[in-house]
Amino acid sequence: MTLAELLPSVGMTGEPALEAGLWPLGTRLDRGELLLGGVPATELAARFGTPCQVLDEGTVRARARGFREVLPEAEVVFAGKALPCREVYRWVADEGLSLDVCSAGELAIARSVGFPAERVLLHGNVKTPEDLKAALGYGVGRVVVDSFDEIEQLGALAGGPQDVLVRVTPGVDPRTHRAVATGVEDQKFGFSLAGGDALEAVLRVVEHPSLRLVGLHCHVGSQVRHVAVYEEAARRMVGLIASCGVRVEQLDLGGGFAVPYLPGEGEFDLGGFAHRVRVALSHECALRRVPVPRLLVEPGRSVVAGAGVTLYRVAAVKRGTTRVFVAVDGGMSDNPRPALYGARYAVRLVGRGGRRAPVTVVGRHCEAGDVLAENVPLPVDVRAGDLLAVPVTGAYHHALASNYNAVGRPPVVGVRDGVARVLVRRETEEDLLRRDV
Ligand SMILES: Cc1ncc(COP(=O)(O)O)c(C=O)c1O
Repeated sequence: MTLAELLPSVGMTGEPALEAGLWPLGTRLDRGELLLGGVPATELAARFGTPCQVLDEGTVRARARGFREVLPEAEVVFAGKALPCREVYRWVADEGLSLDVCSAGELAIARSVGFPAERVLLHGNVKTPEDLKAALGYGVGRVVVDSFDEIEQLGALAGGPQDVLVRVTPGVDPRTHRAVATGVEDQKFGFSLAGGDALEAVLRVVEHPSLRLVGLHCHVGSQVRHVAVYEEAARRMVGLIASCGVRVEQLDLGGGFAVPYLPGEGEFDLGGFAHRVRVALSHECALRRVPVPRLLVEPGRSVVAGAGVTLYRVAAVKRGTTRVFVAVDGGMSDNPRPALYGARYAVRLVGRGGRRAPVTVVGRHCEAGDVLAENVPLPVDVRAGDLLAVPVTGAYHHALASNYNAVGRPPVVGVRDGVARVLVRRETEEDLLRRDV
């Protein structure tokens, strides 16, 4: 049954234009076809199957370069958790970025592409002995310590002086979703600034013979829209630097720069960030008579989110009492973000325009919460077999994917200059069975 039969009285006609700011650079519409990196979406779906995560190399590189251009004096560190994939790590290395990893697994991906060890930072509120040994074995440039236990464990394992940053909880409200607000007090990340643990951690690192304090770190949260949040964090961190009484060479303000997911949502003001954080740092450092530390930033989402588009095949269309459900062949296994954070997405039908009506796009998994997008306008004749494209799916999709219901995780397919290639292949039943011994 088509949506036209289910919902006959609807508005909005014609083929919708590409929503500004949501699609990878160079995405085009050509007589109903959606071209991603110069490759038709229908061809991608036919060649690689659905669901399929398409990643535009040019966009990743441009965003990485953009950070370096806007912040030439800073070290730009890609948060590898956003998209742990060898080829992506190669691209960002090529573009001169450093890399933040937070497990031996992410480090293994970095190591496998020869990511320069001195440009790798090890993060994580839990670092197992295996994580620490892997990092020390590879000779990572810096470890960002997150607990007193870890300071002891790392100190005991490190042979020579290991460069360390201390992760601080600055007590700044990032005005974002609770699940990704990491800079507020009384949560699991970092050492509390207000409670005095941050200062104590700095002193313990300084006193440890196997550790060398090079900097302080904070990450206030993710999808942070307001530059003022970073300014405030910077001021508080300089306050800590001043009270430490030791030289702090680096100040890492983390990532979290918001990206637009829906039409009309604005870009994070990176230029404004660069200017206002520079001013805040130099002013606060002058006031407190400490040298200005080198700035580090750790963007993840803002480098890769907008480069990704997920393609799904419509499996069924059906009516609830108040809504029409368009069910696709993926769902919370390739995108748990709506269920985790209430994340919202735009959805486009590839190949047809026409009258549209709002629908709820749902996944194939055995959870009522497996909803990919609510209230999105799709053509009224949407039907099984149609191809849907969901933009802004490059960050924390491949990374957060699961094989719930023993559904294999989708491939990541890179596109560039009209050429498509598999970066991460689709997970097969053999893959799933291999682990079940
Ligand atoms: C320490 C740290 N740095 C950077 C990031 C990247 O954040 P985003 O992807 O929002 O830029 C994260 C994300 O969780 C993080 O935990």
